[in-house]
Amino acid sequence: MCGIVGIIGRQPVSYRLVDALKRLEYRGYDSAGVATITGGALQRRRAEGKLVNLETRLKEEPLSGTIGIGHTRWATHGAPTERNAHPHFTDGVAVVHNGIIENFAELKDELAAAGAEFQTDTDTEVIGYLLAKHRREGMNRREAMHAMLKRLRGAYALAILFVDDPSTIMTARNGPPLAIGHGDGEMFLGSDAIALAPFTNEITYLADGDWAVVGRTGAQIFDFDAHPVERPRQTSIAVAYLANKGNHRHFMEKEIYEQPEVTAHALGHYIDFTQNRVDTVSGIDFARIPSLAIAACGTAYLAGLIGKYWFERYARLPVEIDVASEFRYREIPLSPRSAALFISQSGETADTLASLRYCKGLGLKTGAVVNVGDSTIAREADAVFPILAGPEIGVASTKAFTCQLAVLAALAVGAARARGTLSEDEVQALVKSLAEMPRLMGQVLNSIQAEIELLARELSKSHDVLYLGRGTSFPLAMEGALKLKEISYIHAEGYAAGELKHGPIALIDENTPVIVIAPHDRFFDKTVSNMQEVAARGGRIILITDEQGAAASKLDASHTIVLPAVDEIIAPMIFSLPIQLLAYNTAVFMGTDVDQPRNLAKSVTVE
Ligand code: M6R
Repeated sequence: MCGIVGIIGRQPVSYRLVDALKRLEYRGYDSAGVATITGGALQRRRAEGKLVNLETRLKEEPLSGTIGIGHTRWATHGAPTERNAHPHFTDGVAVVHNGIIENFAELKDELAAAGAEFQTDTDTEVIGYLLAKHRREGMNRREAMHAMLKRLRGAYALAILFVDDPSTIMTARNGPPLAIGHGDGEMFLGSDAIALAPFTNEITYLADGDWAVVGRTGAQIFDFDAHPVERPRQTSIAVAYLANKGNHRHFMEKEIYEQPEVTAHALGHYIDFTQNRVDTVSGIDFARIPSLAIAACGTAYLAGLIGKYWFERYARLPVEIDVASEFRYREIPLSPRSAALFISQSGETADTLASLRYCKGLGLKTGAVVNVGDSTIAREADAVFPILAGPEIGVASTKAFTCQLAVLAALAVGAARARGTLSEDEVQALVKSLAEMPRLMGQVLNSIQAEIELLARELSKSHDVLYLGRGTSFPLAMEGALKLKEISYIHAEGYAAGELKHGPIALIDENTPVIVIAPHDRFFDKTVSNMQEVAARGGRIILITDEQGAAASKLDASHTIVLPAVDEIIAPMIFSLPIQLLAYNTAVFMGTDVDQPRNLAKSVTVE
């Protein structure tokens, strides 16, 4: 994880480096640093914590120099201290690194035996020592770079300055993305195109295994064997993604309230509302595949789990799903005639990408359900299913989740149509329900805020919270728990309502709120029975249901949030809204850093 940038500019670069890093802060915010070459020497400023601390540092001690590199860190090896903050300096070499050098311990032992004195606890420092060693052996900078890369195992995106070459940045990529930006007499590099968007929209992406020598007027790119290669130069639309909070307190709040609009865009991409028809989806032949595999992480995985219910129920298509970090190692017997979907907001999640490559290796057709259109997962999949949520800045995923659901619902209905498992009337009825969803979302968002604030005040006093649901409300219960814990730091778990009596019921007491997600669907009566079990043990129930459910439930929940009655296929999207707002408002009461919660990062590019 971590974000890296580099600039070869015509003016001093330190403030522009920090500006670019701000757009990469979603990748990590444990510490940050910049280095430049000035007066024939490497200079750096580093600070623990968020970029604002580095900015303060730079105000106190400005840094000149027209060439520089920068880093924002999500700590993997070594505590998030200033000492471990990048850039790391070794004998005239400065290095910033995103990724993990898996064989760092072995390299460190070897280098230490030869006299290296390591200053940090990071895996990154071996890179500088390897380069310095190769230079001492008589190699020039390029030879040293190539020799160093051959020694590394693991994932990396690198930017490197050599003090004896103040007009060049060396860069390399193996795993995490790396974009080179072409300016007017200036060159840039960064972990993504958005970091570079204010400077240039002319971008060249390095392929895996590539490394490059970036000078003031262009870049020479080499493959892993040091053969010169050409990579296409493309015009990026990243500038459109430069986002601000508008009138909202946090990006997360803004993104929650954007959902009626963005889910409408997402659905509109797959559904012809004038004809009430799902457009034929190209890329995966749902009519012919015997089964579907899905891999994803975190919230995207939970969206996939809801998708599984839809593909199986409507399209009669068996779905094998797992979190990507397990999926790729399980050696699942997958048929090459099957297809696999990889769901990822960022399109860069390392485990999801590895699962995609694993399935491609087995010969499956692959589809990427992604938000970032030029991400690695999007580029490597056979078919791309964009979710069109727009930039999601808050670390807690909200609008990407409901857009992922909207796209999966459309794909499942499209698959049902292609496989002939639903009649045309049934397809039309589902499409009609999906068409109503954005309006209903708006209605819900406008009606529940005050009630949620009161509940959130109460919830913020809890130590543990349970979420229960059945059917598609079960993954939603897990999503509710994930949302609450990641931004409020309150311990929360989501369970299948029917599993309660197999263990979790032992946790029930008057201090543990139990949030029950129960639209009045096929499972409602069963879920109400599970609620009874909670009530009988003094549990405090917050019921989220619809008008019919509220009328049918004879149970005294301590609070009932009543949503409009909706078709089963859109219930997960509609019921997401109180779940998200509850987590958001609880975190606001608790005063946590909602958009950048502790220990997390938006894009997880390490395994
Ligand atoms: O970018 P991705 O969708 O692949 O990210 C997957 C997870 O890291 C992500 O959903 C994470 O769980 C969110 N912080 C949850 O809100």
